[in-house]
Amino acid sequence: MAEQATDRIIVTGGAGYIGAHVAVELLASGRSILIVDNFANSSPIAIDRIREIAGDDVDVRVLALDLADDANREKLIEAAIDFGANGAVHLAGLKAVGESVAAPLRYYETNIRTTFNLVRALEAAGARTLVFSSSATVYGDANQSPVNEAGRLSPTNPYGRTKFFIEEMLRDVASADAHWRICNLRYFNPVGAHPSGRIGEDPKGPPNNLFPYIAQVAVGRREKLSIFGDDYPTPDGTGVRDYIHVVDLARGHVAALQYLLTREEKGALDVNLGAGRGHSVLEAVAAFRRASNRDIPTQIVARRPGDIAEIYADAGRAADLFGWKTEKSLHDMCTDHWRWQRENPSGYVED
Ligand code: UD1
Repeated sequence: MAEQATDRIIVTGGAGYIGAHVAVELLASGRSILIVDNFANSSPIAIDRIREIAGDDVDVRVLALDLADDANREKLIEAAIDFGANGAVHLAGLKAVGESVAAPLRYYETNIRTTFNLVRALEAAGARTLVFSSSATVYGDANQSPVNEAGRLSPTNPYGRTKFFIEEMLRDVASADAHWRICNLRYFNPVGAHPSGRIGEDPKGPPNNLFPYIAQVAVGRREKLSIFGDDYPTPDGTGVRDYIHVVDLARGHVAALQYLLTREEKGALDVNLGAGRGHSVLEAVAAFRRASNRDIPTQIVARRPGDIAEIYADAGRAADLFGWKTEKSLHDMCTDHWRWQRENPSGYVED
């Protein structure tokens, strides 16, 4: 059985929003990490903040590298061997739905090539344990909530299809080579920030997602929130989603990794990471108002094309397999998101 304290984990995309929180939780659990990031959509300042939160006596290494570039595969293999990696959490990739519709090839090429090079490198380094950052977006609009992992997979945009194809690729890899242990984590809607206020989401340009948008309205950077439709068949007519605090989500990765590293059987598995209940847009706005004590002007506008009325997780498998469940409330998500926004109104800037 692997000793927890000696696990040495590669974290691709470890400077990003979710990656930075995963890095902090892996370090808190006693692991050593090697962050691999090309900083295309993240800031090196996040690395300083990870170190600051994790404190002294942690082993954090950084490799600035674009894994979508095949020429970098050898560099990763060398780094993985040198580091003594025994597994990876893979979060590197492009993630904007609208952008993926406009530039599908860029999405397929970047996300799939990056995964391909990582898997090849892990194979060469003999580190065949992988936690993959998938998304509930793989379910599309084909299922009744709560959605479990046996739900139909039918992503509705190129970004979602990259997640789906990568899951399929990883399932094939695991069935072909019995040394692999793989977990596809299907995230619901990650929001919030680290309670320290030092790491959080730093969207470039106008945010597409609800929480970053609300936060920018609350801080006065944008005038009002547009609520996309109030005529859905939901209790208050607005869309319902399963929001999950990013720290809970990050701990879900540590739990998944622990499970993979210690279980007997190999292969690939798919696991939802969600709270298991939904909140409407109006509930989220009301909770954010309470947490921030700010007025958050809203207007109802037309539905956003491609949105569905309601989706939330059946979170039972993560509880059964990993003994993991969410601990933080919608209020915690808003309080922590607000602290990050207030203390870092322009995102990551040198102190
Ligand atoms: C979106 C992506 C999903 C991605 C996830 C990351 C789409 C179709 N899906 O999910 O692939 O994994 O983000 O968290 O884009 N809303 C407003 N006003 C806004 C923004 C959002 O009313 O300005 C509403 C939406 O209609 C929805 C809810 O808020 O009901 C959540 O939206 P959002 O945060 O964008 O997440 P999803 O659409 O669920």
